[in-house]
Amino acid sequence: MKYKLIIQRQKSKTDKPYIQSFFVEADTDNTTVAAVLSMLNSQDELYDSEGKRCDKIRWECSCLQKKCGACAMVINGRPCLACDARLINLGSEITIQPLKKFPVIADLMIDRGILYENLKEINAWLTDEAYADEKRNDILYEASRCLQCGCCLEICPNFYTEGDFFGMAAMVPSARILDELNDKKKTALKKEYSKHIYNGCGKSLACRDICPAGINIEKLLVNSNTIAVWKSLFLRNK
Ligand code: SF4
Ligand code: SF4
Ligand code: FES
Repeated sequence: MKYKLIIQRQKSKTDKPYIQSFFVEADTDNTTVAAVLSMLNSQDELYDSEGKRCDKIRWECSCLQKKCGACAMVINGRPCLACDARLINLGSEITIQPLKKFPVIADLMIDRGILYENLKEINAWLTDEAYADEKRNDILYEASRCLQCGCCLEICPNFYTEGDFFGMAAMVPSARILDELNDKKKTALKKEYSKHIYNGCGKSLACRDICPAGINIEKLLVNSNTIAVWKSLFLRNK
């Protein structure tokens, strides 16, 4: 089957975006957007749908198995992983854009550095040995599956890169750390959690429905809100 990819491109950070289209053919129902982007770039010379020679398409990937999050982009208006987006489900004309909440480096490559800066700001890591309660293994496992892809931030109406709200890409890793820290060490992270996650979240859970890893964001959010905020409020008001 033949498809038309309509790609938003940009030569560099400082250049203006433009649209360029390409025709591709898919042999199987499993052919993904990542596969056809690789196929286009593997040609010695790349031509657009009007026969004009053009630069290779810049985009990122690593695992090609929905495990690393590198290939996150907006496909037909929805943030998702290119290696998980099958052409057969997308119609004959497919629009592809970079995630819009992050600075574009070139074409579909974006700078997601803010995700790591935000985790650094709230100190979302362990500094020494942690006690893992077997009864909480499901929470720890769920929280460890975050790809840091940024799809949840793309869809979130409250997240923007200069803002104080860090979104679910910070909540999910925090959910794991909050569960592992002892009570004394939780205090600092609880404070940061309240400021950068709990206070800014409207709890619409649009992020839950978009997460390509299928993480149970609602469960983690309730668990972390309980540990970081609700328990303290309840105890203070007793
Ligand atoms: S929570 Fe889901 S959507 Fe958000 S960064 Fe992690 S894997 Fe991606
Ligand atoms: S629940 Fe809503 S406001 Fe909170 S992170 Fe998800 S999309 Fe954003
Ligand atoms: S390339 Fe790793 S998730 Fe798509």
